[in-house]
Amino acid sequence: MQEFFAEYKAYIVFLHVISAVVWVGGMIAMRYAAHPSFMQIESPAHRMERVAHALKGLFTIVVPFVVILLVTAVIMIKGYGLSQTEFSALGHAKEGIWAFMAVNLFVMILRRNRAVRLLNEGNMVGAKFSLELIGKYMVPLNIALGVIAIFLGATLSSSL
Ligand code: HEM
Repeated sequence: MQEFFAEYKAYIVFLHVISAVVWVGGMIAMRYAAHPSFMQIESPAHRMERVAHALKGLFTIVVPFVVILLVTAVIMIKGYGLSQTEFSALGHAKEGIWAFMAVNLFVMILRRNRAVRLLNEGNMVGAKFSLELIGKYMVPLNIALGVIAIFLGATLSSSL
């Protein structure tokens, strides 16, 4: 694995970074550019439909990058022999953040699907509750964790 990493390091780091850009950048664009615009739609049903539709697009785009992020992380852990270095704690912290973000994303996908089902059944209150949780807490939490992971990445990058 170390030889493989040495040969393809630039590609592996590139894939790792672009995955973080798409995942974290996608959430920021959705939450702070698209979402306020959706809120201008007057009809609550139409507004929630649009939000749910846009979230489906976001989740479809980010899921492959979440997987690439992990695969490249594993390659770097082995390639740098990260567990044997003084920076192993930083590596473990990033693993924990990735796992938390991935679980949070999975729960968001389930919540969005639930909101769509409730919308189709005409349960506006239930749908609003599910979508609000995603927009108010779950996406901002993942953005914050992503920014911390990027900072830890920059720290690792300048130390390894
Ligand atoms: C799954 C556990 C993770 C591990 C073990 C890990 C490990 C690393 C390592 C070793 C580097 C340094 C690469 C180099 O410069 O050669 C790095 C950089 C980076 N990581 Fe991660 N990472 C993980 C998760 C994440 C997550 C969740 C994000 C963001 C969502 C992220 C974003 C970045 C970024 C943007 C860089 C580049 C920083 C720079 O070059 O200044 N990483 N990561």
